[in-house]
Formats: sequence, C-alpha cells, structure tokens
Amino acid sequence: MKVFQVEGAWTHDHLRLGQRPQPQAGAGQIRLAMRAAALNYRDLLVPLKGYGSRMQDLPLVMLSDGVGVVDQIGPGVAPGLGVAQGQRWCPMLFQGWQGGAPDAQKLSRGLGCETDGTCAEWLVTDPLSAAPVPDHLTDVEAACLPTAGLTAWRALVTDGNVRPGDVVVVQGTGGVALFALQFAKLLGAYAIVLSSSDEKLAKAQALGADEVLNYVKEPAWGRTVKAMAQRLSGRDGADHVVELGGTSTLEQSLRAVRAGGTLSLIGVLGGAKLDAPLGLVVTRAVRLQGVTVGSRDDFVAMCSAMARVQMRPVVDSVYPFEALKDALAHLKSGKHFGKVCVGIQPG
Ligand SMILES: NC(=O)c1ccc[n+]([C@@H]2O[C@H](COP(=O)([O-])OP(=O)(O)OC[C@H]3O[C@@H](n4cnc5c(N)ncnc54)[C@H](OP(=O)(O)O)[C@@H]3O)[C@@H](O)[C@H]2O)c1
Repeated sequence: MKVFQVEGAWTHDHLRLGQRPQPQAGAGQIRLAMRAAALNYRDLLVPLKGYGSRMQDLPLVMLSDGVGVVDQIGPGVAPGLGVAQGQRWCPMLFQGWQGGAPDAQKLSRGLGCETDGTCAEWLVTDPLSAAPVPDHLTDVEAACLPTAGLTAWRALVTDGNVRPGDVVVVQGTGGVALFALQFAKLLGAYAIVLSSSDEKLAKAQALGADEVLNYVKEPAWGRTVKAMAQRLSGRDGADHVVELGGTSTLEQSLRAVRAGGTLSLIGVLGGAKLDAPLGLVVTRAVRLQGVTVGSRDDFVAMCSAMARVQMRPVVDSVYPFEALKDALAHLKSGKHFGKVCVGIQPG
C-alpha cells in the first residue's frame, strides 16, 4: 500500500511516498480503508523528531488524524462494540485511551509519533482505539475530529465545564481555535476570537464570534479582552481562555481571565518557556489546566453533540495524497483558516 512517511533521516527532505505491505486485521482488530487525513501543527515538528523522546524509529508514517471505512473485521471483535463493514470510523490519536483521566500508559501510543500514523491507504487498529463518525460529515470533515476537534472539546467540556453565558477567548483561527469557537457557541457561551488577520477575524464573526481583536495590531490585548468579556457577561473578565500561544500570550491571558477562571494550556505557538506574572494566578485563583487531546469517551460525546446540531468543521483546503508536502507548506505559511486536509481515496 501507499504511505507518506519520514524515511532514512529526520528532516523534511526525507518525507517521501513509500510502499508498505497491506496490513491485515488480526484478532480483536479492525481494518480501515482510509478516505481522508488532516494535518495538525505538530505534523510540522514530527519530521524533525521534534515531538518528544518516545518517537518511533524510522520509517514513520505521517499524520495523526484521519477517517476510513471498516473493510475487515478480525476474529473475536465483540459484537457489542457495534462495528460493521462499511461504517466510517476515526482512529483515536491516543490508541488505548478509552476514558477517564490521562496517565502515562494512556498517553504512550500516539499516531504519527510513537506509532505509524494515518497517511496510508489502510490502517489497522482496535475498536476501543477508534470510533464511528457522524453521518452528516464528509470524509474530509470527519478526518478533522480526532486531534483538533477533540482537544477543543476536552478543553471546554470535559475539563473546562463551560456553561451557557460564559465568555471563552480563542487565540488564532487554526484547527483547534475554530473548533473551540464552534463548541463555545454550541454550549451557549460567548466567544472572543484573536487573530493576526482582519480578514480572518471577519470570517470568525461570520462563524459566530461575539467580539474580535487583532493581536498583531494590539499585542498587549489582555485588558481590552477583559473589558470585552465584562461587557458580554457582566463578570470581571473571561471565564475561559483557550491558550495556544504559550510564552507570547500567557501574560495577556492572565490579564484577560476573571478571578476563578480557567486557562486551558494547549499550545506553545509563541514559545514554550514560562514567563508570566504568576502572582496573578495565585491572588486571583486562576486554574491552569494542561490539555492533551482526549479519550475515546470524549470523542463519542463530541460526535453526538455535533450530530445533534449538524455542526461541520471548518475546512480550509484539501490536497491530494501525493501533495502532502505542499499541504504542510501551506500549514506552515499560516495562511489557513481552519483545517488543512489530504484526500486518500475518493468516497
Ligand atoms: N495539547 C494538545 O493536545 C494539542 C492538540 C492540538 C494542537 N495543539 C497545539 O495547539 C497549537 C495550535 O495547533 P493547531 O493544529 O490548531 O495549529 P494551526 O491550525 O496551525 O493554527 C495556528 C494558528 O494559530 C495562530 N497563531 C500562530 N502563532 C500564534 C501566536 N504566537 N499567538 C497566538 N496565535 C498564534 C494563527 O492564527 P491567525 O492566523 O488567525 O493569527 C495560526 O494560523 C499548536 O501549538 C499545537 O501544537 C495541542
């Protein structure tokens, strides 16, 4: 089968189309004929061995997100799991994290990192490390769910407990950010979106953002966002900040959040060193919550909520399988709004 993999050495130049034997579903496993895959920021770091010390030895099949059609069911798959030929299922990023709080074991097998990823014609997994997707989504839309969608869901729902009337601040207009905007609206919360581009902010407003701000024009945005949140909810700041910048944004997030509010620490796009006024965390009892994707149970809950309101992920662009490098270059350019995807097999 065709795969897109890093082979020979850890550089972007060693990202190549390759061939692997077609995998077969063993006992307790299912095989997915992959239809589409989606890119995440981390896929820019993977070819440089930039995603932790436990990365699989080369060759490594790229990407952590994708969707496929069940085309083989191995012996011993329990009927109660509801798997049937022809259904569309997504493999979970963390293979084996079925539910509950994360631990080292549950976080040890990440697709496209500690184990081969989704940029392949077939993928074998087990039904408790994968889950069915809502019927209303296209293949490409469904491929966006396991990382960006699930991370935003876990941050706002499972860990964040966001309530109607809360104010959620979202940094940027990439994959995680736009899911967070859409989920905030689904939950009946207000959303404030920050972007480097006025054009993208206008699109975010069309998606339901209640307030927007250009973080390049106003780098010290914390107090302005706090005032926006006060106008929206009457509270003393934002209830929740989806923190994607890291070093470059943490201080402003701490100035924007209300006393007792939450910062979901998800990304480090603007640096990974802690350089922020920690006194604000203590004196205003701010909760700093690290988020690392989510479990299969979270995924099932997210899909059911999306199906109920027919929510669709925002897809920026779709590249052919062979053009993965062009797709990565587009992601790196930062011109995208929402998800950059790859088609694998036409549905
Ligand atoms: N913890 C987890 O489980 C998890 C899961 C998924 C992603 N992440 C992390 O979350 C971050 C976003 O991932 P993604 O896949 O959604 O990325 P993405 O789709 O590439 O989105 C990046 C967007 O973020 C905005 N941005 C870039 N630099 C920024 C900065 N310094 N401060 C604020 N915003 C900035 C830009 O939006 P504008 O163009 O609108 O300015 C950019 O388009 C990455 O750090 C990624 O590693 C973590």
